[in-house]
Amino acid sequence: MITKNKIVKIIELAKKCNECALHHFREFDNKLLSYKDDNSPLTNADIKVNEMAVTGLQKLFPNVEIISEEFYNSKFIFKNKNYFWLIDPIDGTKEFINKRPNFTVNFALIKHNSPIFGLIAQPTTGTIWYNFNNKAWRLDKGQNFKDSQIIQCTEINYKKLKTLSSFNHRSKELEDWMSFVKPISDQNVGSSIKFCYLAEGKVDFYPRTSPTMEWDIAAGHSILKSAGGNVISDSGIEIKYGKTKFQNDIFLAHGKTQNIPNTFLIKLKNKNYNSYKKDLDDSITELKKENLVVFPTETVYGLGAIGNSKKAIKSIYNAKNRPSNNPLIAHTFNKKEAEKYGEFTRTGNILTERYWPGPLTIILQTKKNNLAKLLSQGKSTIAIRVPSHPVARDLLEQIKIPILAPSANKSGGVSPTEINHVKEDFGPKFRGKDWNLSKIIDYGSCEVGIESTVVDCRGDLPIILRHGYITSEMISNIFNSDILVPQDFDEFISPGLMKSHYSPKANVYINQKSKIDDSAWLFFGNVPKTLQKEKIMFNLSPTGNLLQACNLLYSALRYLDSFGVKNIQVMPIPMKGIGIAINDRLRRASYQN
Ligand code: TXA
Ligand code: MG
Repeated sequence: MITKNKIVKIIELAKKCNECALHHFREFDNKLLSYKDDNSPLTNADIKVNEMAVTGLQKLFPNVEIISEEFYNSKFIFKNKNYFWLIDPIDGTKEFINKRPNFTVNFALIKHNSPIFGLIAQPTTGTIWYNFNNKAWRLDKGQNFKDSQIIQCTEINYKKLKTLSSFNHRSKELEDWMSFVKPISDQNVGSSIKFCYLAEGKVDFYPRTSPTMEWDIAAGHSILKSAGGNVISDSGIEIKYGKTKFQNDIFLAHGKTQNIPNTFLIKLKNKNYNSYKKDLDDSITELKKENLVVFPTETVYGLGAIGNSKKAIKSIYNAKNRPSNNPLIAHTFNKKEAEKYGEFTRTGNILTERYWPGPLTIILQTKKNNLAKLLSQGKSTIAIRVPSHPVARDLLEQIKIPILAPSANKSGGVSPTEINHVKEDFGPKFRGKDWNLSKIIDYGSCEVGIESTVVDCRGDLPIILRHGYITSEMISNIFNSDILVPQDFDEFISPGLMKSHYSPKANVYINQKSKIDDSAWLFFGNVPKTLQKEKIMFNLSPTGNLLQACNLLYSALRYLDSFGVKNIQVMPIPMKGIGIAINDRLRRASYQN
């Protein structure tokens, strides 16, 4: 992706930035010039290193947009969101001002919202960390590219946990987390150096509950990933870049591990852990009684039934009015469990290695055993997904039987991303003649906002049956090939691909520019002058951010529907990245029109 030649030049540039920062540090030229939008301090060194970094990167990558902490303001709109630099010329300005040594220079290259290259340089020691060729590397002062040494995370030993926390950000939540996790040591380290400690295997976890900006963590994330770790959100999926205002929410950076304990994420987010535990225990009891339970996943809320009961499975169809020919997704705790029910293929292995746990569903041949037959409802193929959401994982881990779960909405309607949506569809009684929704776990709004990507993995190349958060570009990148999509007649292959689906009550019209009668508007980005006075409207993302639009899509459709309008008109939404999945849902929602 980035050539060796380019890496050598970026390292040279980082060395120059190191010297420049160090010069200001030594000369005590660290006086505060001002405070920025977000109240962080600005010094002469920030400005000088920024100039040097931006000019240098521009020369090396003339066509790639650069987002730098130093010229970002909240009104900033950038154009090519698929490929851009995120740089923080001096991370840890407070360290710098206070004459502590842990400030760093940070460059990260983002593609499809994920970091593909990162470099962190520490001026005071001259050390540089970066990733290249799927490995993480370290260069010490005076060394050149060829002297680079591989660094790696060590496998986490949960009995002897070592954690890192931030110098200036010890919140109450973080204290709680620490007393729950009980590390044998916790170090206080400033700036992005924390990611380098993780990547070198010196520590296991860096939890963060207070806000950060994307350029603070993107380079560290990239290096850590190449060293065997990762940075995940509180619903267990890898942190994305190019989010609204470049702000991060809660995250957990971790070293090498098979599975993060569910409780590590739940504790990070959930203040009332005892009431959560009760919800979980009740849910397991109800599932075992063959009742239905609504639980959060990273995509949308699921309507779960225990997978070994014909009666429970049948009641999902009754509750949703779901056509009996539309099969369900079996959710399992991990891949090992999934292998009991589906015949894995090379394609399936590659995709799940990269995206499980997470918003990916794969279709495989069903294995020949009784539970597999039940889970696939007698079909020769089975849909399986290992969710990343810690609540879904807690349920699956404890109940030890796969859970079948469609989205928790009435069939053909809009999927639920909040508990209110579930209540609209199934309340106030939450039961019918032959179904009983006896427990709902409320966990706030779902991070992704649309359903998982469904991929047929039976052949040599994946076939995308339903677009989702894991985009066709991401998948075709892995396989180095164009990705096949099913033709119209494949409605029979995946019944959920029905042309009409995800529909609110109002008629939906897509790619709209001018107003029709009795309509509400779903906007995206800049609203044309002629429509600015519309009262019944919702803007999916005023800054034109597709990740935000994806997250808000379903609640926006439900919101506009609540006005009882006859029509919902949708502005054009770009067909790139996650925009493909958004357009796919809207197209099905608008099928009759
Ligand atoms: O994100 C999600 O996948 C959510 C959460 C709750 O996990 N679940 C979800 O389930 O969206 P549901 O039932 O709403 O959609 C399942 C999709 C449908 O399009 C269905 O036709 C397809 O998966 N599917 C299930 N089994 C299949 C099979 N054997 N072959 C092809 N497609 C299948
Ligand atoms: Mg659905």
